[in-house]
Amino acid sequence: MDFSGNVRPLSMERIATESSSMSFINEAVEAIRKQVGDGKVLLALSGGVDSSVVAALLIKAIGKNLVCVHVNHGLLRKGEPEQVVQVFRHEMDANLIYVDAVDRFLDKLAGVSDPEQKRKIIGAEFIRVFEEEARKLDGIGFLAQGTIYPDILESDGVKAHHNVGGLPDDLKFKLVEPLKFLYKDEVRVVGKALGLPDNMVYRQPFPGPGLGVRCLGAITRDRLECVRESDAILREEFAANGLEGKVWQYFTIVPDFKSVGVRDGKRSFEYPVIIRAVNTKDAMTATVEDIPFNLLSHITDRILKEVKGVNRVCYDMTPKPVGTIEWE
Ligand code: XMP
Repeated sequence: MDFSGNVRPLSMERIATESSSMSFINEAVEAIRKQVGDGKVLLALSGGVDSSVVAALLIKAIGKNLVCVHVNHGLLRKGEPEQVVQVFRHEMDANLIYVDAVDRFLDKLAGVSDPEQKRKIIGAEFIRVFEEEARKLDGIGFLAQGTIYPDILESDGVKAHHNVGGLPDDLKFKLVEPLKFLYKDEVRVVGKALGLPDNMVYRQPFPGPGLGVRCLGAITRDRLECVRESDAILREEFAANGLEGKVWQYFTIVPDFKSVGVRDGKRSFEYPVIIRAVNTKDAMTATVEDIPFNLLSHITDRILKEVKGVNRVCYDMTPKPVGTIEWE
């Protein structure tokens, strides 16, 4: 297999089955070994589908010569950093550097309410943390990226939300992009064949800035926890009720205002949680999922009981357009 150029080879068969994914994996492993030899490869491993599949493929090809860096910026969903460590360090025996950068990101974001400014800070800080880790390592010659074919088709070969594109010139490693000719569904089939867990391979899309754009306005730790905990309940209930994999994207949002309520016979002044669940093909337009009313009531009860600081739950009925999928 030849990963040069930016056009998917016509001879490349569609990867839909176990056997087609095995032949892709074998060819990709051979191509990676040929490209990097005994060299070391660095990878920013977020735990998203693309970076996880790249990691699994490179572990198969070059083992410990792959160095994965997982940056926990504090804006990941509940359980995600732990799962990255469990799957890659403990189960796949990967060379994984885990960076706890939670305070660093939240300190930088404190008081910043403009959504684009928040995105810029998260992206820039990510590059800085990754760069610092890269500088501590010796002998790295390559940078692996989870670029997939739609990234090439849609944005001239630059992974639109990939944060590691901005490394300084003296750290310009040679790129290893083994998924660059694959469509998303093919990436999932390959990930499954490489032994990654279903909840990693079939997960819903998750924005680069993570929960940061769902904790509206200036991010505070208490509201961020409200987003994380309510999102975990929503995901758990969708999974238990057969909606995982059926609904394209679902999450919760916590605005930066409080409303009045009553708790234990006293007036409460707490945050609302908004539930969003949408279906779409390409994220350009979206429809709202028709969730059974009793399931919505059950999720509401759980959020009100289990998430500290929340006294109201709403369901967002807005299609795209007029609303966007995210709130920021
Ligand atoms: P909107 O809100 O524009 O979202 O309707 C469309 C899709 O894009 C995702 N999204 C992002 N993904 N970085 C990302 O990587 C971002 O800053 C970002 N903003 C929105 C959103 O989750 C949805 O799937």
